[in-house]
Amino acid sequence: MFGGGYVGLVTGACFADLGHDVVIRDVVPERIEQLRAGEIPIYEPGLEQVVERNRERLQFTLEIDEVVDDAEFLYIAVGTPPTPSGDADLHYVWTVIDQLPQELPGRPVVVMKSTVPVGTGEAVRRRLDARGLTHVGYVSNPEFLAEGSAVRDFMNPDRIVVGSFDPDDGERVVGLHRGLETEVVRTDVQSAELVKLAANAFLSTRISFINEIANVCDLVGADVVDVAKGVGLDHRLGPHFLKAGIGFGGSCFPKDVTALKQLAGNSGYQFMLLQAVWEVNELQKRRVVQKLQKHLGSLHGKRIALLGLAFKPNTDDMREAPSRVIAYRLLSEGAEVRAWDPVAHPGDLPGIELAETVLDAVRGADAAVIVTEWPELATLPTPEVREAMAQPLIIDGRNLLDPVAAREAGFAYEGIGRPRHATTPNPSHREELRT
Ligand code: UDX
Repeated sequence: MFGGGYVGLVTGACFADLGHDVVIRDVVPERIEQLRAGEIPIYEPGLEQVVERNRERLQFTLEIDEVVDDAEFLYIAVGTPPTPSGDADLHYVWTVIDQLPQELPGRPVVVMKSTVPVGTGEAVRRRLDARGLTHVGYVSNPEFLAEGSAVRDFMNPDRIVVGSFDPDDGERVVGLHRGLETEVVRTDVQSAELVKLAANAFLSTRISFINEIANVCDLVGADVVDVAKGVGLDHRLGPHFLKAGIGFGGSCFPKDVTALKQLAGNSGYQFMLLQAVWEVNELQKRRVVQKLQKHLGSLHGKRIALLGLAFKPNTDDMREAPSRVIAYRLLSEGAEVRAWDPVAHPGDLPGIELAETVLDAVRGADAAVIVTEWPELATLPTPEVREAMAQPLIIDGRNLLDPVAAREAGFAYEGIGRPRHATTPNPSHREELRT
């Protein structure tokens, strides 16, 4: 496994759990030292236990020879970040391909886990052939792991997508997943590459769509939580990824929306819908600031508590987190920002004070903004918090709280698309209809 980041580590550890011998190679010495010492360098529920119980089948190394020695599969799980032009930066991928030794015994298969533009597989194939490595197979096997539930996602996948040039290579990769019960999509390399980008772009589209519905709700007095429920119960639409809020972040959605838009553009097609999905998401992050201004007027000198920094709960990942944009917007409006997160550290957010506890973050604040729906924040509207704040105003960027309960607890409350009269839906309503 080339790459010991989120994807490589989770995939490698889970393959070991399925009974395979796995060697994970990373180029960062501290990461390898930590892993050898049994420490997990990322926050991912369940991963430590999987690594622990498979210690005998898992090795960590800096040396390329230790990975390729007798390996039947050469998994690539390195980063493919966007370049300033919006294309994917594939130089880590090429480094791995170019470092493969000239003598590789048997028929090893290079398996691409990293998200790459369509056409990468063909380009790798050509490069391998040019080096005389024609006996090395190539398979695209995209990952669909969501951070925070990555181990569960690997063990209970919705599907496994395997695209290959040679059917036997594909079958061998399918065979690696023996023990998992799921649908397998066998296809060509280009289609497998596109499945990953299309799935993430589609999910992002749902989020931007429901965020726009929420913005309409704000104007017409409807409640987006009820609207999303009513929409999602249509079996053709389904209930997932209809939570309105401050927009999507993370290492995949922003990158993959850009990558697909760019891929289409480079191929001569303007993907207008994705342009809009992207713009809606950028504006959505800033809506919290408008809502604060609506209640507080100028934010100059106001104290704002940012509750949650990670792009979603159960992860310490700050990549493309909406909290970054919100924090910088607040600072440039002249606000003082104090932030709290149970695990994420902002690192490069200068000018932001960090609080140890939620109560410390809200003390003296003119408003508290829920940025990440950490479970710890579900009980935010307490008398203690109300007393501690200079003004008891909650802007709930994730629609985590019950608006009625928050207002009854003495807070001015504003969610996203939950203007006035939001009610908690009656869960027994379905039963009532039956009887
Ligand atoms: C995602 C995909 O789910 C995964 O399949 C892919 O391989 C990698 O990208 P991840 O980025 O870890 O996983 O998180 P996910 O749970 O999908 O959430 C992405 C973002 O969308 C988060 O910022 C989240 O807060 C936001 N989101 C999600 C919403 O705003 N509303 C929703 O209804 C769902």
